[in-house]
Amino acid sequence: MTLQMEASIPREKKSGLVIETARLVMRAPSKRDLDGIVKLANNPRIAEMTATVPHPYTRADAEAWLEKVRTGRGYSLVLFANGEKRVLVGVAGFGHRGEEHNPEIGYWIGEPFWRQGFATEASRALIDHAFSETGIDALSASCRIHNEASRRVIEKCGFQWVGTGLNQVKALGASVPVDRFVLGRKTWESVRAWGASALPTFTKAG
Ligand SMILES: CC(C)(COP(=O)(O)OP(=O)(O)OC[C@H]1O[C@@H](n2cnc3c(N)ncnc32)[C@H](O)[C@@H]1OP(=O)(O)O)[C@@H](O)C(=O)NCCC(=O)NCCS
Repeated sequence: MTLQMEASIPREKKSGLVIETARLVMRAPSKRDLDGIVKLANNPRIAEMTATVPHPYTRADAEAWLEKVRTGRGYSLVLFANGEKRVLVGVAGFGHRGEEHNPEIGYWIGEPFWRQGFATEASRALIDHAFSETGIDALSASCRIHNEASRRVIEKCGFQWVGTGLNQVKALGASVPVDRFVLGRKTWESVRAWGASALPTFTKAG
């Protein structure tokens, strides 16, 4: 994933960024992360669902990615499980896809770590960060129409479906149909406020 971010985020702020969640430490990538990234990203099940992860995925691909992250205006963070041993589990970020107005969120999680809630946890933290630290009005997301896991992550983050389209997938050398979603600032504020309030108590009439 390499996306360009329009909202102005100073480079020094970006390189020092660390986001901590209940189970993850998310930080800017560095050279020492690249072997771990290659090990996980060199997987056709990741490549065929993402726009820019090639397959096979080599050390040279990881180095080129790191350079783009460092010099571009988007955010890409490496995700580590914050247990006793810091294990690299994936990558998440946001930035602009082509000419699109809203920055788009993107992520992949290494297959050994699927279905543990990491993508949802990382995405929610990134979304909070994006709305808190930049003046953006909305974030976009998209996923291939049969990518049930990513669709579920997107839904769980409060995005609303806005239509379909075509996205280029580098690993396939083709464009594929995708569903597109948007999360507006007001909806994000509402989801955050709702999440913080206690559930109502229902009583049966009669
Ligand atoms: C999509 C992806 C990031 C999800 O990562 P993850 O950490 O396993 O996701 P989570 O554990 O946060 O799961 C989120 C939801 O998706 C569901 N889910 C996970 N994998 C699923 C699958 N294969 N099929 C259907 N639902 C799935 C989970 O059950 C969960 O929903 P729930 O809370 O209602 O049970 C991961 O599968 C991946 O990296 N895939 C390849 C790359 C990719 O698709 N990137 C996104 C491009 S748009």
